[in-house]
Amino acid sequence: MIDLRSDTFTKPSPEMRKVMAHAEVGDDVFGEDPTVNRLEAQAARVLGKEAGVFVPSGTQSNLIGILAHCQRGDEYLVGQLAHAYKWEAGGAAVLGSIQPQPIEMNADGTMDLDRIRSYIKPQPSLNHFAHTKMLALENTHDGQPLPPKYVADAQAIARDAGLSTHLDGARLFNAAVEQATSPADIAKGFDTVSVCLSKGLGAPVGSVLVGSADLIGQARRWRKMVGGGMRQAGILAAAGIFALDNNVDRLAEDHRRASDLEVGLGAIDRIAVDKRATNMVFVTVDMATDQIDGFNSVLNDTGIGVRGGPSYRLVTHLDVSDSDISATIDGFAKAAATL
Ligand SMILES: Cc1ncc(COP(=O)(O)O)c(C=O)c1O
Repeated sequence: MIDLRSDTFTKPSPEMRKVMAHAEVGDDVFGEDPTVNRLEAQAARVLGKEAGVFVPSGTQSNLIGILAHCQRGDEYLVGQLAHAYKWEAGGAAVLGSIQPQPIEMNADGTMDLDRIRSYIKPQPSLNHFAHTKMLALENTHDGQPLPPKYVADAQAIARDAGLSTHLDGARLFNAAVEQATSPADIAKGFDTVSVCLSKGLGAPVGSVLVGSADLIGQARRWRKMVGGGMRQAGILAAAGIFALDNNVDRLAEDHRRASDLEVGLGAIDRIAVDKRATNMVFVTVDMATDQIDGFNSVLNDTGIGVRGGPSYRLVTHLDVSDSDISATIDGFAKAAATL
């Protein structure tokens, strides 16, 4: 199947499985897994931070990041469509008594700077308000890399108001490749940064939270508390090291294939490409609600895995080849011809 549902569907390659099988391991809860230690140091170095902590998922990485920044009764500012607000089951509120302050987002993944400013609650506040403690950004958002000037301006607003900053960089490496800059440049100025190894980078599991030694020390304690201490996790960390060593530069291929998909699908009657950003293509098919199932079954019968309808998000990744892109374009043309 050509699985375009998400880059989380990537499977570990035979080479990746080999390094996993031979990974040197120890008890990571005691800090004794050499492979985990190596991954954490490598991620911190690549992202220009002091320290890192390896966690099972991007969700846990964001959660322990927020918990390290904020106390009970604090709040963090976050985009209302951001993963760390909308898609993480309210973890910071449930487990940390930390209030999210969602902020309306623009189509390009940014938030208006004045709006960010306006949501920072004045202190002291006659005890009315939560303490605004942190600003969280997401890069990429829906595949879109944030404009560097916007990031710098938002960071400056946070800094001037005494807030710390967190970046959900689940797909930070896509942003770096697309903007032809270094991962450290994308991570610059943030107090903590979460990156995922299990999306376009192709590892089966894992994220790393990086930041100052102090914040990562606190996050490490939260990781233990939420059950993220994984013992002989070097088997998983080995996949992460392999991903960082081998699968970052090649993200450019995914972006190029997404462009090819954009061009091919855009030429089909009844299909409008809404946008293309890094490895994601958003399309809308001009069809009625009762035509969606039929359209999707033509795609599925052609071996194309999608989610949604009439709007679709198609994601390219290392398990999608050039011939898969051609087959996808043909499959959509075939499905569109049935409408
Ligand atoms: C932007 C973003 N942040 C965080 C996550 C969470 O990652 P995980 O699925 O590993 O919990 C995702 C997952 O898709 C994501 O897209």
